[in-house]
Amino acid sequence: MAKAFVCRCEDVTLHELVEAIDRGHDDIESLKRYTGFGTGWCQGKGCVAVCARVLAERGHEANLPFTPRPPLHPARFAELAGLAEIADDDDARGEPPR
Ligand code: FES
Repeated sequence: MAKAFVCRCEDVTLHELVEAIDRGHDDIESLKRYTGFGTGWCQGKGCVAVCARVLAERGHEANLPFTPRPPLHPARFAELAGLAEIADDDDARGEPPR
């Protein structure tokens, strides 16, 4: 069987997902914790639907999405440090980031 990735951020394959379900991880949160899918850069935007579908196809509940952890969107370090206004001023003046 060809290797098929269900989560490209964390390199989780379809085979690993099915194996986890067979081991008793039969809800979306447990599957996430066991395989690591949904914990990558996109926070599951590219894989939760596919993993939920695989789970549902095997007769399990897949209607409760897991809780995404912040930051929900890519953030600049300046925003995390509370320096977004200074960084925006630098950007407006064309100065390099501090
Ligand atoms: S594709 Fe799974 S976390 Fe991005």
